[in-house]
Amino acid sequence: MEIKRTKIVDIFDPALIGQKVCVKGWVRTRRGNKNVQFVALNDGSTIKNIQIVIDLAKFSEEQLKPITTGSSLHVEGMLVASQGKGQTSEIQAETIEIYGTADSETYPLQKKGHTLEFLREKAHLRPRTNTFGAVLRVRSALAFAIHRFFQERGFFYLHTPLITASDCEGAGAMFQVTTLNLNDLPKDEETGKIDYSQDFFGKQTSLTVSGQLEGELGATALGAIYTFGPTFRAENSNTPRHLAEFWMIEPEVAFNDITDNMDLAEDFVKYCIGYALDNCRDDIEFLQQMYDKQLIERLNFVLHNDFVRLPYTEGIKILEASGKKFEFPVKWGIDLQSEHERYLVEEHFKRPVILTDYPKEIKAFYMKLNEDGKTVRAMDVLFPNIGEIIGGSEREESYDKLMTRIEELNIPMKDMWWYLDTRRFGTVPHSGFGLGFERLVLFVTGMTNIRDVIPFPRTPKNAEF
Ligand code: 4AD
Ligand code: MG
Repeated sequence: MEIKRTKIVDIFDPALIGQKVCVKGWVRTRRGNKNVQFVALNDGSTIKNIQIVIDLAKFSEEQLKPITTGSSLHVEGMLVASQGKGQTSEIQAETIEIYGTADSETYPLQKKGHTLEFLREKAHLRPRTNTFGAVLRVRSALAFAIHRFFQERGFFYLHTPLITASDCEGAGAMFQVTTLNLNDLPKDEETGKIDYSQDFFGKQTSLTVSGQLEGELGATALGAIYTFGPTFRAENSNTPRHLAEFWMIEPEVAFNDITDNMDLAEDFVKYCIGYALDNCRDDIEFLQQMYDKQLIERLNFVLHNDFVRLPYTEGIKILEASGKKFEFPVKWGIDLQSEHERYLVEEHFKRPVILTDYPKEIKAFYMKLNEDGKTVRAMDVLFPNIGEIIGGSEREESYDKLMTRIEELNIPMKDMWWYLDTRRFGTVPHSGFGLGFERLVLFVTGMTNIRDVIPFPRTPKNAEF
């Protein structure tokens, strides 16, 4: 009778030594000599492999031939203390069933280290590598930590729509959703423009860039909500920090002002980093050893230091006084580029910075106007190596002031009536922010390209897999 399978993550329990065990997984490597063969088996539950020791007195060459890198096995045998260094226990194989072979001529993941660029072309198989196994386990743990953080604090998880008829950020970088025949579009006879009344939803729709506007409806009813879902941006930026499809977490809280919002953001990211350090130690240590020797030091540094809180105007003064030659010249009113953000965080303060009170012209319409009439209560959290990890603000709760902004920016009113109702009926001060999930995963794993922290990245000219 087949014995119950033990996951490899659980197999290193010293209490199991001396017992007959069953493991299943994929072969990472095989080596050995004429008398004994060693197979490193991994089942994805941990970065660690279990060593299978195969005595050639018990198995024939013929039987072992299909056991190559990438093949999948079911092994039963005795778990014994290991003589080899670097592992605590190993399995002396008694029975081996081969589920599937992996032809060594064609299986792309042979044991030699591959470049991350090569693995991006093999995104369907890269989860089987140590690196992507580690990244994906950390990603999963961070997702859990996020729900735990908010649930423990009485926030409700609100599901906001992915298909929308409004543009939250006003950036215009949206993917259209339509069932119209693109080769034969219905046109309005008078204007010659596309007649969206004939489209599926009877109006022009897109994939959402943010769940915030619906999030505000939730917060002004349930008090404190968060969203956690995919968002889509058709910005044609081929950078190591932008995806066309990324996941965002957007808490929104009634009665919170900008200071409460900053406190929440700081507590939140620290909680996530602490959770990963406590629960993903093996994976983070592996990533540190492979890619980024300062990783754990940097995570602990962020965890144990207060973030700097600085108005944009002060930030501009520091940049101007820096004497540095930036590619994009600095003056009040500019949208900060990554080089500016990185100077403030990595060179000047050497810690995360929350930059606040940006000029209204470079921020979204919903942000609360300050008394100066020029700046808004925005807050961007800037991180070492990442740049902007969070963007948020206190929201404009005054109906009249919000209307003024909407008119100044020519935002089509008829699409916004439901949003304005939050300000017409029982409006309250409220605040929120959005964390780019992949940017958090980048920071925690020490990876440098956002394409390597999401299983199947979507970027300009790339929607493979
Ligand atoms: O700063 P953003 O555009 O803010 C909003 O969407 C607000 N509605 C959030 C809110 O207040 N509820 O985006 C928020 C975060 C950024 O700080 C960044 O981390 C991430 O989302 N982000 C991206 N991540 C990957 N790829 C992209 N193209 C991203 N665009 C934004
Ligand atoms: Mg932003």
